[in-house]
Amino acid sequence: MRSEQPKTVYLKDYRAPDYLIDETHLTFELFEDHTLVHAQLVMRRNPAAGSGLPPLVLDGQQLELLSLAVDDVPLGEGDYQLGDSHLTLQPPRDEFVIDSSVRIHPESNTALEGLYKSSGMFCTQCEAEGFRKITFYLDRPDVMSKFTTTLSAVQKDYPVLLSNGNPIASGQEEDGRHWATWQDPFMKPAYLFALVAGDLWCIEDSFRTMSGRDVALRIYVEPENIGKLQHGMDSLKKSMKWDEEVYGREYDLDIFMIVAVNDFNMGAMENKGLNIFNSSCVLAHPETATDAAHQRVEAVVAHEYFHNWSGNRVTCRDWFQLSLKEGFTVFRDAEFSADMNSRTVKRIEDVAFLRTQQFAEDGGPMAHPVRPDAYMEISNFYTLTIYEKGAEVLRMIHTLLGAEAFRQGSDLYFDRHDGQAVTCDDFIKAMEDASGVDLAQFKRWYTQSGTPRLAVEEAYDPVAHTYSLTFRQSCPPTPGQEHKEPFVIPVAMGLLDAHGNELPLRLAGEDAADGTSRVLAVSAAEQRFTFVDVAHKPLPSLLRGFSAPVKLSFPYSRDQLMFLMQHDSDGFNRWEAGQQLSVQVLQELVDQHQRDEALSLDPRLIAALRSVLADESLDAAMVAEMLSLPAEAYLAELSEVADVDAIHAAREFARREISRELFDLLWARYQTCREASRTTPYAADAAQIARRSLQNIALSYLALAASDEVVDVCEEQFEHADNMTERLAALAVLVNSPFEAEKANALAKFADYFKDDALVMDQWFSVQAGSPLPGGLERVEALMHHPAFTLKNPNKVRALIGAFANQNHVNFHRLDGAGYRFLADQVIALNALNPQIASRLLTPLTRWRKFDSARQALMRGELERILASGELSSDVFEVVSKSLA
Ligand code: TRP
Ligand code: ZN
Repeated sequence: MRSEQPKTVYLKDYRAPDYLIDETHLTFELFEDHTLVHAQLVMRRNPAAGSGLPPLVLDGQQLELLSLAVDDVPLGEGDYQLGDSHLTLQPPRDEFVIDSSVRIHPESNTALEGLYKSSGMFCTQCEAEGFRKITFYLDRPDVMSKFTTTLSAVQKDYPVLLSNGNPIASGQEEDGRHWATWQDPFMKPAYLFALVAGDLWCIEDSFRTMSGRDVALRIYVEPENIGKLQHGMDSLKKSMKWDEEVYGREYDLDIFMIVAVNDFNMGAMENKGLNIFNSSCVLAHPETATDAAHQRVEAVVAHEYFHNWSGNRVTCRDWFQLSLKEGFTVFRDAEFSADMNSRTVKRIEDVAFLRTQQFAEDGGPMAHPVRPDAYMEISNFYTLTIYEKGAEVLRMIHTLLGAEAFRQGSDLYFDRHDGQAVTCDDFIKAMEDASGVDLAQFKRWYTQSGTPRLAVEEAYDPVAHTYSLTFRQSCPPTPGQEHKEPFVIPVAMGLLDAHGNELPLRLAGEDAADGTSRVLAVSAAEQRFTFVDVAHKPLPSLLRGFSAPVKLSFPYSRDQLMFLMQHDSDGFNRWEAGQQLSVQVLQELVDQHQRDEALSLDPRLIAALRSVLADESLDAAMVAEMLSLPAEAYLAELSEVADVDAIHAAREFARREISRELFDLLWARYQTCREASRTTPYAADAAQIARRSLQNIALSYLALAASDEVVDVCEEQFEHADNMTERLAALAVLVNSPFEAEKANALAKFADYFKDDALVMDQWFSVQAGSPLPGGLERVEALMHHPAFTLKNPNKVRALIGAFANQNHVNFHRLDGAGYRFLADQVIALNALNPQIASRLLTPLTRWRKFDSARQALMRGELERILASGELSSDVFEVVSKSLA
């Protein structure tokens, strides 16, 4: 806990480090009740930082200093100053060696940052500033060093000893302890350091790189999970191949290791040669993990592997540049997933997530640019803006430059900056130099926060046969940014004629038409594009593939949206037209509900979904996406003031109407899919995943009919499915149904069968936490006492409390404020245990401005109660104080 108010760090204050650490030699002696860390740092004055010998200020927190020497001369207490978070001493000359010994306590580290224990094994998490909880160091990413690490522990309890790089020596001691030394030949910042010690098993494979080197691949796990590693290994090999083919990037060490741990604050971490994963992001088996979980494993394995180049070989100069590695790497993993699976479905999922979650962040009190210019606690800046909006910025560069020039730019970037710690400007410069495209104005995407709006107006001249589109962009004010300059917004678009055919596109001033889909770069506050040779008034298809992270508006009629749903050549925009139609129809229902009128659903939505459902030639995954109504969270995001109850009532009414009107079609398609599932062995391939998603959404609609025949099929699927995708979907349907006996039976059976599988129990918690039926808070409170629940495990916190606060709007936003009070209580408890998780859990309360005044007051009240609750971590303090400001 902090003892004073946390300070704000500013990008404008960046200075190069006074000293460098050429070599880092670490020795860890791991014991049950403490760990000893000896560090030898071979240091020198940074020639780039000025003259003289300024004091050396090392970072260090929660370290018990046992000894300290400079150039082998022990220092006494008067020779250095030791504070809460720094150790300051005067170096004797330009080049010197520091030796320090400290005692730390991984066995009682619940923050899961630095060195800690998870299910009996030792592991580390150093990004962003965890290394300072291991030893005194220059814990900043622009200090890169060559690491040698020796670890020792009792052999029978910790037979496996791992660190970064290659194993170079090992041995036994007389007292049952053993040791191993690892050396990493690549310079790296401390945040990429890792060690693991435990009783682990592994599966092994190998990969031959494009230059013909064989790399050993190992995934380590606790023995009971050894059977859940094949999918992760397959994903790793696909990632290595893809990065060679698409980016020309080859792996650089002789060994690549992944370790699965149960207690982890985030998804995974790209430590050099030794990635550490939340077990939820690497373990997968058909019987225990859903299709979505399989796809998540594939994506996260790829993401961390891709960091070896975008993050490790070329790293960040400072933490303001975080999106340099995260935005780029998310873009890379999204393209990988698109190539491995359905490109359109992947894009739909990512855009739906961005528009609900990141847009909400960009419109709230924590809004910040992709490259922030200030922070209190960097852990709070691993955000949707840095990751997902950052990836959209990379995608826009890719769109504007084209695939070929983009690749030349990335080659130049990796080549020019290999082994360096650089900035987003360096990245842009490489892209400019390789392509010849000026990105000066485009760079506003890095510095301006907020989601731009783009209003589009059309005008057709039937005499001149011209068709013009006028774009007006604006961006709402965000904290610290009142006024915004225009962005460069790439708008991919096409024009459709009355038969749904694509028109050749020729802009005024061009010699000839050039294709039927093109990218307009909108760069002024108001800008008009005029197409010529347009014989009849066309219908525009705008922002194809969601080519920019903006809120686009065009006055489409519902009939036009239905037309686009059928005819647009862009799969994403066909889905998008359906979403816009649904949004219009649902908003109408919300209005009716607010006026206390009887709800009546526009039959055009039913008609549109009927033709989607009846068309057997459509990809089943697309049918499933088209059948999914916009989420309550998205409808809330679109509202000026989110009326939680009206949104829920409207959406549920629409779902029941769809169920009633399309019952026979849904039933038929469900039966066909389920029959195929019964007769074909499970595979996590695209075709089967598509089929199961259609089957499961059909079942969720059918269940709204609440008839005996539907209960029977739910129970049949729940009992007899050979995979978690079908079993969990059936469980969720029962949990949200009024069939109390069947529900209780299914929940009990599931928990009994899977009680020893933590990741499956997470899903069991989530399904219940997300149920909108009345009494949701009480159910969640009861589940907090379930033996499988603990506040100390982040996955459990996310599965139960996180799912409730983020996905169960009607229950969380209860008018008496009990949902808010519950969340605040958990944040206060977690603040003392795990500040990063406490701070993330707070997010729903930060959105108080979206709600009616009664709820606003209740939410603010809880934020104030947290603020007054005692000593707050810098993580929680920053989020609470900015939310109330
Ligand atoms: N760099 C990690 C990633 O791949 C992020 C990460 C993992 C992280 N663990 C963390 C960030 C703990 C902060 C704290 O995205
Ligand atoms: Zn990452």
